[in-house]
Amino acid sequence: SDRYCVFGNPIEHSKSPLIHTEFAQQTKQDIEYTKERAPLDGFAETWRSFVEKGGRGANVTVPFKGDAFALCDTLSKRAQRAKAVNTLTVGGNGLTYGDNTDGVGLIRDLNYHRVPLTDKRVLVIGAGGAVRGALEPLLAEQPGEVVLVNRTAEKAQQLADDFADLGELHSGGFKEIKGPFDVVINGSSASLNGELPPLPGNLFTEGAWAYDMMYGAVQTVFLKWAGTHGAKRLDGLGMLVEQAAEAFFLWRNVRPDTTQVRQMIRQMLN
Ligand code: ATR
Repeated sequence: SDRYCVFGNPIEHSKSPLIHTEFAQQTKQDIEYTKERAPLDGFAETWRSFVEKGGRGANVTVPFKGDAFALCDTLSKRAQRAKAVNTLTVGGNGLTYGDNTDGVGLIRDLNYHRVPLTDKRVLVIGAGGAVRGALEPLLAEQPGEVVLVNRTAEKAQQLADDFADLGELHSGGFKEIKGPFDVVINGSSASLNGELPPLPGNLFTEGAWAYDMMYGAVQTVFLKWAGTHGAKRLDGLGMLVEQAAEAFFLWRNVRPDTTQVRQMIRQMLN
């Protein structure tokens, strides 16, 4: 069977082996998928040794998406834009191909839940790696406007400059937020620390959606807050499954059905 892996640090709680093993059973692909903690200062070496032992591809998570980007021989357009790689593939020529499926994962999840994006006003919070990966696929949905805000406003400005050619994208600091928005996506890591970005009260339109890229057994502070302001809520678990499905498709050229895996992972969380 072909070998795949997810690399991160820490990696103990990764659900990727479970997700990909389910995908493989469902599509009758003969693969083995494990998880491995790479040392903080030795990602490239860890990847090379995995390839030498017959590894065919890997997913890459925190904090190695930048290291993965740096070691690739060739890159997809969306990975070049994101400057981050979450999916590595060994090509027939032995070269390493890097892609970023995070953004597609987000959009697929939004589509799955029938969250409209085209012509809508979308607020994106954060300007780190997660948001970098999401912007190109998001702008491809042709939202009316995307507003990017970040604690450090200059970083939002930089991102807006980098992606300006792809659509109607504006940036600012939290103080400049002018609602309401149809969709608000929290791509900051504030939820990890149980913190809520300083958001104004009139953030949501009637029927608006709030999306947190984070997930956990308990709802994030951002989603709790959004609920009290009347927004419909989604966490990042669907995005996790969908980015995995896109990686699986890259490696195996078959697209798994994510519905059943979504349910399984959700049950495991609770
Ligand atoms: P990731 O790869 O998960 O995006 P990152 O690149 O470290 O991680 O980015 C983290 C993002 O969360 C940044 O946009 C960060 O804001 P700064 O650029 O100002 O650091 C944001 N962030 C982290 N903690 C936050 C908090 N408590 N409130 C608001 N934003 C926060």
